[in-house]
Amino acid sequence: MNSAIIKGMGYYVPANVVTNEDLSKIIDTNDEWITERTGIKERRWINNDESTSSMALEASKNAIADAGIDKSAIDFIIFATLSPDYYFPGPGVTLQKDLGLDTIGALDVRNQCSGFVYALSIADQYIKTGMYTNILVVGSEYHSGGLDKTTRGRGVSVIFGDGAGAAIVSKSPSSDRGILSTHLHSQGEYAEELTLIGPSTRRWVPEIIDGKGKEDKAIFPYMNGTFVFKHAVTRFPEVINEALHQNNLTASDLNLLIPHQANLRISQFVQKKMGLGEDQVFNNIQKYGNTTAASIPIALAEAKQAGKVKEGDLICLAAFGSGFTWASALIRW
Ligand code: ACO
Repeated sequence: MNSAIIKGMGYYVPANVVTNEDLSKIIDTNDEWITERTGIKERRWINNDESTSSMALEASKNAIADAGIDKSAIDFIIFATLSPDYYFPGPGVTLQKDLGLDTIGALDVRNQCSGFVYALSIADQYIKTGMYTNILVVGSEYHSGGLDKTTRGRGVSVIFGDGAGAAIVSKSPSSDRGILSTHLHSQGEYAEELTLIGPSTRRWVPEIIDGKGKEDKAIFPYMNGTFVFKHAVTRFPEVINEALHQNNLTASDLNLLIPHQANLRISQFVQKKMGLGEDQVFNNIQKYGNTTAASIPIALAEAKQAGKVKEGDLICLAAFGSGFTWASALIRW
């Protein structure tokens, strides 16, 4: 059977840096509160001429260059986001057009913070069955436009940032390298613990306009913070161990864990619970905040650029988020 390797990684973050200090000028918050609870020091917010798909385009170009392939070799696109340009169609088709690709298929994934790992799992299956050879897998998020930037929304709005990451997942003849396994989970009973209710078919735009407008809390993301925290610190180790057990490996075999950048405190908790060393876990939430589906590919691309991901290394990607959904991927690089 073919194996699927990650041939190239790329990322893009907007130039506009928003520090905790900047936020404290528009809402009642402060650097100390945000740093202590989340580890975040700054995040990026896009400028008006950018979008979820435009950031994805830049990240994709970087991934294609890193893979050393011609873009015409890409035969499928998988796009993970919770912040698409339009309600429909999804941004996969926009990326296909903007990259100037032939009429290849484009699939949109709606799994929030776990979106990139779910997308990678789909790519892995398509490569293993021989259906495709080079798949572009993207995670891109534009959060800043939809946050409640008032003191009412401060528990959520200080956490999220904008950005995009991309991977080229390719067929490899070598069976000792590549994605070893992926593990996917969900628990819909907690869908409304981390959610954006409207606009949606449950709350159409006319209903919002005729209703309370900006006063309507349901048009902004809602997060039951402590509830999410408790589940995250259980599910992360669970799904990482599931991947290790399936491959007869242990935490000490891991060269690098790249957890979804939800909150630095969550990553530190997971690191401690798994008995991992400081150099076995990669975090960059301090600079970018939580970019949901984009956080893992941005982190993986940065780690690779920094020389922390080398051929033969054992890399684990793990995510938990809205749905709830959680997932892991174990990769022999
Ligand atoms: N600045 C200053 N004060 C704030 C802020 C802020 N940005 N936000 C909330 N507060 C205040 C609250 O009003 C409250 O004040 P009160 O005690 O006077 O009522 C106090 O701080 C404590 O608020 P809590 O919401 O209880 O704060 P908590 O300690 O739970 O921290 C946080 C909130 C950081 C969100 C925490 O619950 C957490 O880490 N949750 C994990 C969820 C998470 O990180 N999700 C990431 C996204 S989801 C994902 O990707 C998996």
